[in-house]
Amino acid sequence: MEIARDKDASGPAKQKICIVGASGKLGQYMVRHALDRGYEVVGVCREGSVSKLDAFKGRITLIPGATDDRDVIKRAVDGSDAVLTVLVPRGVHGYAAGTAQAVLDHARPGARLLFSCGWHITLDGQDVYSWKIKALVKVAGPLARLARFADLDDQVEACRRVFASDTRWTVVRGSDLEEGDSQGLPVWSRHVGDPILKSNLTRRIDFALFMVEAVGNDELVHRAPAIVGCRTPSALAHASATPAP
Ligand SMILES: NC(=O)c1ccc[n+]([C@@H]2O[C@H](COP(=O)([O-])OP(=O)(O)OC[C@H]3O[C@@H](n4cnc5c(N)ncnc54)[C@H](OP(=O)(O)O)[C@@H]3O)[C@@H](O)[C@H]2O)c1
Repeated sequence: MEIARDKDASGPAKQKICIVGASGKLGQYMVRHALDRGYEVVGVCREGSVSKLDAFKGRITLIPGATDDRDVIKRAVDGSDAVLTVLVPRGVHGYAAGTAQAVLDHARPGARLLFSCGWHITLDGQDVYSWKIKALVKVAGPLARLARFADLDDQVEACRRVFASDTRWTVVRGSDLEEGDSQGLPVWSRHVGDPILKSNLTRRIDFALFMVEAVGNDELVHRAPAIVGCRTPSALAHASATPAP
């Protein structure tokens, strides 16, 4: 399906963002931030979740379908300047890896690609993990797989494919999340274990803000920033210890 670029008579065409996994909590926040910033938005979500996006009816184009369906993704990303993908390791059939691969294969060359995941993903093996995160991966991970509920290794494989691609990717690694009003753009660091990240908490609305703001931030291309809320104690301690420029 051809999606028309929205153009007003006086200005240039709006930039188009495709949000893959738009109906989830993170996805809905990303839709809202993208619309607030004047982007044309195309969303992909499972058929049964379309009604979760009723609040945006008439303001976004929706392509219903599984996010690992290559035909669905091919249509959805057509002409997009950026694709924001929620990597969800649900089920045990490679849903996240299939989703990532479809986006990598079908996004237009040069498109900005953003992927969400958790801190357990590592780009260069230099992250230092707390016992809590290690336990989550070593104990809860296999249990979730056993129950066929989720497969953390699927998100690892999805990110491995992203890291190996020659696209303009950024993998945004979220800390523990909470709901609440926005506190502003999260701060980030290259490695889990860096003191600035110690608080391990980000508002979900601000995780979404980071994803959308990263579209225009070339400094983040080929990086996997680990983020934390800008008002958390560890972020504030880092800010007060850093001399003003
Ligand atoms: N939750 C955390 O504490 C946490 C921490 C760090 C990072 N993250 C990352 O943040 C991102 C968003 O995670 P979230 O936990 O906040 O969830 P979320 O935004 O609510 O997103 C969940 C997504 O999973 C989809 N989903 C649910 N059940 C599914 C199934 N059986 N098969 C396929 N898709 C299914 C949902 O689609 P429908 O709307 O169709 O159900 C939705 O797109 C993820 O990339 C996650 O790795 C989360």
